[in-house]
Amino acid sequence: MNAVTSLHNLWRKFGATDLLVSPLGLGTVKIGRNESVKYPTQFAIPGDKQVRNLLALAFDLGINLIDTAPAYGCSENRLGKLLTNRANWLIISKIGEEFVAGKSAFDFSAKHARFSLERSLKRLQTDVIDILLIHSDGDDAAIFHNENLWQQLAQFKQEGKIRAFGLSGKQPTYQTKALPKSDCAMSCYNLDYHEEKCVLDAAYQLNKGILLKKALASGHANNIEQSFAHAFSHPAVNSVIVGTINHQHLQNNVQIVSDLLINQQSNHKH
Ligand SMILES: NC(=O)c1ccc[n+]([C@@H]2O[C@H](COP(=O)([O-])OP(=O)(O)OC[C@H]3O[C@@H](n4cnc5c(N)ncnc54)[C@H](OP(=O)(O)O)[C@@H]3O)[C@@H](O)[C@H]2O)c1
Repeated sequence: MNAVTSLHNLWRKFGATDLLVSPLGLGTVKIGRNESVKYPTQFAIPGDKQVRNLLALAFDLGINLIDTAPAYGCSENRLGKLLTNRANWLIISKIGEEFVAGKSAFDFSAKHARFSLERSLKRLQTDVIDILLIHSDGDDAAIFHNENLWQQLAQFKQEGKIRAFGLSGKQPTYQTKALPKSDCAMSCYNLDYHEEKCVLDAAYQLNKGILLKKALASGHANNIEQSFAHAFSHPAVNSVIVGTINHQHLQNNVQIVSDLLINQQSNHKH
């Protein structure tokens, strides 16, 4: 193993934006919600002290990217309260999905997008969301054709309330079609699921930012090292967002990603 255990020197450009993202991001479903989730084991939502320590550890390990959403229970509110040094972080949040009384509900109107973004800004105690994603309900065709929504996202950017936007989708054809009108996309790609590889291929051609979700198959992956190797084998992938509340797992993941990317760099040189 290489000695480096921080990702600081491995930050990369996020597509054509001027954002520099760490190759590993912290997913925060588990700090806000533990009902109707697909993880293999039950878990308790960590307390404030645990979350503060997790965020401090992530920062020390060179992670600058944090992923949240209105649909992640109290995740946004808690980050607003517990994330210190806002300027050190890039925050991803979403619009479109709500999670109320144990159930998801969706609204992709421009009006709701405005309401949701303003609420996220308040909850996160910030004046800008770095990356805003459309949180798909599975009907990416309807989202793709929803011109009012795309115009609203472009408007948010003009107003300086977001820096980049894109689709976190589920239908590869429409995820791909949406790329030209987006800065980025969040895709699912892991050892057992390759259907969105075409989205990554197109994003690479178009120089769009790519965030991966569920690279560890939401905790069902058998081999963590192979999962990360697979994720970073695609050149479009800028950052893998892994949801963890376990310090040891976070440290292991950083070590694996650091080793992997340093080896990739030295292979490219030879
Ligand atoms: N936009 C969307 O529609 C969408 C959908 C799903 C997810 N996401 C985002 O993507 C993030 C990642 O997705 P995800 O949380 O579903 O799946 P994931 O990152 O593939 O897997 C997370 C699970 O893996 C476990 N884990 C992490 N590191 C590990 C390690 N080194 N060894 C063993 N287990 C490990 C975690 O448990 P521990 O806590 O015990 O480490 C957690 O249960 C989410 O947090 C969220 O931010 C977005």
